[in-house]
Amino acid sequence: MKRIALFASGSGSNAEKIATYLADNASVDISLILSNNPKAGVIERARRLHIPVLLFDRATFYDTNRITQLLINQKIDLLVLAGFMWLMPAELVRAFPNQIVNIHPALLPKFGGKGMYGHFVHEAVVAAQETESGITIHYVNEHYDEGLIIFQAHCPVLPTDTPDDVALKVQALEHTHYPRVIAEILAEATPKP
Ligand code: GRF
Repeated sequence: MKRIALFASGSGSNAEKIATYLADNASVDISLILSNNPKAGVIERARRLHIPVLLFDRATFYDTNRITQLLINQKIDLLVLAGFMWLMPAELVRAFPNQIVNIHPALLPKFGGKGMYGHFVHEAVVAAQETESGITIHYVNEHYDEGLIIFQAHCPVLPTDTPDDVALKVQALEHTHYPRVIAEILAEATPKP
């Protein structure tokens, strides 16, 4: 059994798509959803999906190793960031080498790094008059958006596109590809028979 912990700070549409996609995969368990935001929409989604939620504050996340210890105790195999806004603490990254993945709503290394999240990304893409955008799924290290890239998908950006238009196209790519890529990562992690 491979166990996943989902981290989300916001609406949680990706978290829900992942949980739904993997629901009938007998070898994967979405063990819990963690969030730093007590008002996050992901909490209601988790309730509907019957997935336990763990909320934590900055002090717990950065000044203790309680989250790391809990994830180790729960034998979590993969940490999946799905709209999680905080930088992962170095101690947590070290405890889970190549076991933390993230999705970024642009084609890294462009339009990444601190402050490049949500609508800001799509505004920057439109302002730069890019002809394409997309998603990047990558391993997480101790720096924002800098880990090894696992997968990218592209969408066109038309001259008439607004940041909202780009956001819709990018979100469609997220929902299509993130669940599948996670399943593939877990399958690869399973030793071949
Ligand atoms: C997505 O755009 C994702 O690429 C980024 O944060 C957003 C999360 O959206 N990391 P949601 O909360 O999953 O709807």
